[in-house]
Amino acid sequence: MNCTICTPASKTHAASLSSMDRMPGHWLLAQMGKRVLRPGGIELTRFMLERLAVCSDDAAVEFAPGLGVTARLTLERRPASYTAIERDEAAAANVRRYLNGPRQQCRVGSAEQTGLPEQSATVVYGEAMLTMQGPEQKRRIIAEAFRLLKPGGRYGVHEMSLTPDDLPIQEQEEISREMSREIHVGARPLTRREWRELLEAAGFSIEAETSAPMHLLEPGRLIRDEGFFRALRFAFKVVRSPEARRRVFSMRRMFRKHRRRLAAIALVAVKPTASRNY
Ligand SMILES: C[S@@+](CC[C@H](N)C(=O)[O-])C[C@H]1O[C@@H](n2cnc3c(N)ncnc32)[C@H](O)[C@@H]1O
Repeated sequence: MNCTICTPASKTHAASLSSMDRMPGHWLLAQMGKRVLRPGGIELTRFMLERLAVCSDDAAVEFAPGLGVTARLTLERRPASYTAIERDEAAAANVRRYLNGPRQQCRVGSAEQTGLPEQSATVVYGEAMLTMQGPEQKRRIIAEAFRLLKPGGRYGVHEMSLTPDDLPIQEQEEISREMSREIHVGARPLTRREWRELLEAAGFSIEAETSAPMHLLEPGRLIRDEGFFRALRFAFKVVRSPEARRRVFSMRRMFRKHRRRLAAIALVAVKPTASRNY
């Protein structure tokens, strides 16, 4: 998939209109100037980072840094090393602008198979990236986080969830289908119980959890995530582009329609120190 966040302004209006129509929702929002692309916003990110307690002893690995918002927050904590694995080349190039020195790197690759050495990390995290994977890929990415971590290492996730835990499977599938159609990316959120079970099945023990409403495109959250002026600029850009306006309003309508069923969840889990085979 080609990332369009770096599309030069010189591209023709017609070309950008047609690509906007097909573009994955998160890249469309990024092109309109939105930087925070995770469902629980910066508040759940801060919760996750606080519970991960990244410090100068840590070897941190981020899966799917996107535009590098969390990368910057992590780097402020001065970990001993920081490695990001991002599938999209243009996004990876963007993240590299924030990196300094040989112990900070962003590689283009897949979180399913990072190529990094076993037990080389003390902290691994990823946001808004598991939801878009199928069941097998979700399992492989979580298993890769487990493989990378030293015993006692921490794994943080921040994803979309479905509520309540006993939401009938048919309703879960309908919401996933509708959302995938809307954002042009396969979206398969899990219930809180399913996220926990998935992490536990990989061998993790869960230490912290919190949730937030799915308010990605609500004005209050936009301002809290982006700051007043960036939020205003985002709104202005969206309103000025008919295609972006159609898509952003349609995504927001879908989130609002399912507001009682959709939420954001952040979990922090630990790889046990006693060795067990998974
Ligand atoms: C919705 S964006 C989230 C970006 C960022 N984590 C955030 O929360 O703002 C999803 C990101 O996941 C990346 N991605 C998806 N699947 C991936 C995989 N298997 N390995 C690495 N990156 C992946 C995409 O390229 C994109 O940057």
